[in-house]
Amino acid sequence: MDVFLVLLLLSGFCVPTASFPNIYYFVNENMTWAEANGYCIKEYLGLAQITYPENNTALVNAPAGEYTGKAWIGLHIGGIGWAWLDGRPPTYYRWSPGQPLYTGPGYCMSTDYKGWYSVRCTETLGFICFDGSNYITYRTYVTWNDAKTSCENKNSALAQILDVETFDKVSIVVDKKMWIGLSFSPVWVWSETKQISTFMNWKTGQPNNEFNCSAILVEDGTWTTEPCIQQYPFFCSAVYKSKKTVVSMNIQTDVNLENPDTQAAVMQQLQATLAKQGVTDFKLTWTKQPVQISRKKIDDACLNV
Ligand SMILES: *[C@@H]1O[C@H](CO)[C@@H](O)[C@H](O)[C@H]1NC(C)=O
Ligand SMILES: *[C@@H]1O[C@H](CO)[C@@H](O)[C@H](O)[C@H]1NC(C)=O
Ligand SMILES: *[C@@H]1O[C@H](CO)[C@@H](O)[C@H](O)[C@H]1NC(C)=O
Repeated sequence: MDVFLVLLLLSGFCVPTASFPNIYYFVNENMTWAEANGYCIKEYLGLAQITYPENNTALVNAPAGEYTGKAWIGLHIGGIGWAWLDGRPPTYYRWSPGQPLYTGPGYCMSTDYKGWYSVRCTETLGFICFDGSNYITYRTYVTWNDAKTSCENKNSALAQILDVETFDKVSIVVDKKMWIGLSFSPVWVWSETKQISTFMNWKTGQPNNEFNCSAILVEDGTWTTEPCIQQYPFFCSAVYKSKKTVVSMNIQTDVNLENPDTQAAVMQQLQATLAKQGVTDFKLTWTKQPVQISRKKIDDACLNV
């Protein structure tokens, strides 16, 4: 019986990496957020970053086997600062003249028709809720937290003023200072680029700022905050690139591997095996080698890693 060494060369005739978008890669191993982050940095780019709604869809559609539970993404609390209720820092500010006098933990934002004032969150003011179409003012005096809860109980949210158009609408309905949905609180950033998140897909009632890390529920693509020491599988961001892999196999066979029919059959089998492992778009060729060594070469193999 002859022993053949079959050498598989998966090598790169791939289009250069830069022309491929980043992709997501699911890792089905239970790790803490920090462990997962370290793993993704070592093996890929970093934990998955979701910048646009279409990225969220792409991530949920990334192969994750049967897994539908929670998986770490790269969103975590990067510090504290002024942040809207979903953890986004303002890009538009409308300070009243001379404001802010105070800033830091424990301060919340209020507005009157002239602009914003930073006020201790424990003071009591009226508040403005937004129900999806209207800004509604309430003239009961409550703390910022109570105002937030009160709006939520009315199926609305403390008003967010993201631009001058909104400020103009709100300024018509306020007279005295009233709470809006801005406070000095945790700011959510992406671990890979340190970018502050503009797109958010929090599950209803989230973020719960008790926890510093966030996970995506693969089932529906919504995000939750989780204790960073929990162990979950995770998604990495990866660059779509070619990967060179040399696989050697010892095949014990008494069939003649020089026979073109046998070669074709072996190639077909290899192709099927590789395809099952997600390796597609490659060419298989035989290279003649010294006696008892058959060499296979697979060109144009682009792996999704
Ligand atoms: C996210 O979406 C943008 C815009 O569609 C795209 O250019 C980018 O490659 C996507 N990133 C990932 C990781 O899918
Ligand atoms: C991860 O942990 C969960 C819960 O403990 C367990 O059901 C699951 O099988 C684990 N997954 C892996 C890949 O070890
Ligand atoms: C969460 O983040 C905040 C703000 O950066 C920090 O003060 C706090 O210690 C962190 N909590 C944990 C459990 O790491």
